Amino acid sequence: MKSAQDRVHPLWDEFCRDLELASSLEDLSDLRDKYLGRKKGLISRELKKLGGLSSEERSAVGQQLNQLKGQVQDAWSERQDRLKNQEREATLTQERIDVTLPGYPFPVGGIHPLRRVRREMEEISVRMGFTVVTGPEVESDYYNFEALNIPKGHPARDDQDTLYLSDTLLLRTHTSPVQIRTMEKQKPPIRIVVPGRVFRRDAVDATHSPMFHQMEGLVVDEGITLADLKGTLEVFLRELFSSETRVRFRPSFFPFVEPGAEVDISCIFCDGEGCRVCKGSGWIEIMGAGMVHPRVFQMVGYDSERYTGFAWGMGIDRIAILKYQVDDLRLFFENDIRFLGQF
Ligand code: DAH
Repeated sequence: MKSAQDRVHPLWDEFCRDLELASSLEDLSDLRDKYLGRKKGLISRELKKLGGLSSEERSAVGQQLNQLKGQVQDAWSERQDRLKNQEREATLTQERIDVTLPGYPFPVGGIHPLRRVRREMEEISVRMGFTVVTGPEVESDYYNFEALNIPKGHPARDDQDTLYLSDTLLLRTHTSPVQIRTMEKQKPPIRIVVPGRVFRRDAVDATHSPMFHQMEGLVVDEGITLADLKGTLEVFLRELFSSETRVRFRPSFFPFVEPGAEVDISCIFCDGEGCRVCKGSGWIEIMGAGMVHPRVFQMVGYDSERYTGFAWGMGIDRIAILKYQVDDLRLFFENDIRFLGQF
């Protein structure tokens, strides 16, 4: 007859061999099933056989089996701890972050060149005592044309290829309508500048865009003269370009001013010598301006005997092109980060 030891020893030896071979937590889990499984585990099976033994044998073998079970459990747990540690070490090594690696370059945004120029123009104006106001981009025919002394059928309407939304609504073709909106709401003195987007039915090319930017200016008070217009614009343009900049006024026509003028600055590239940018003339046309037409005052209910004023309008995009020497307007609107990053 087998001694109790004989029954239990081979099981322990087998377990020790298996344990030696178990190299992963998965192996270990199989091992637990094999020896400690409740129904089919080898130790459970032996325990079940106890019933067929004499009472003497039963207690001896039972004791041995329980002891074996304890040993197996201990050895198993110890092994499990070790494997867990090993696996953790392995992942820590694999996932280690090299803090000495250089960081990823982070693309940094900037202020759009048009916004930059617009802001500079606003800041100069504010320092000169102007208030910055804005108006709607969708305008009525009345504000965009009629109230600015451009009645239906007036040839000046043809100059501004208008994008109509309906018979009476349109996308404003200039910032001038905000002159009217402001004067309707306010009594003189008025000193405003109006930056904003304007729209015209133009095909896109290097110098044209159906959407561009303007800044309008308006001064109204008692006793305002053409000398104020000249002085104000000269100061403004010298701030914007350079203290050396010379300004000249050429008579011109705009329905909402009388007299009207086209304003040129001495070429900022050749200082008047004549170059490619100024097409050899030494001058660059920069804006339209003039003394507010009495009829415009009448439209807003101002006494045109008492008040006089001047107005001007200039393209912001054009100023940006000159200041940054960009030769294609489209670059401002394509929003290529490589272009924008240069400002
Ligand atoms: N509104 C004109 C345009 O878009 C520019 C302009 C000219 C504005 C003369 C004025 C002005 O205020 O007095 O072409």
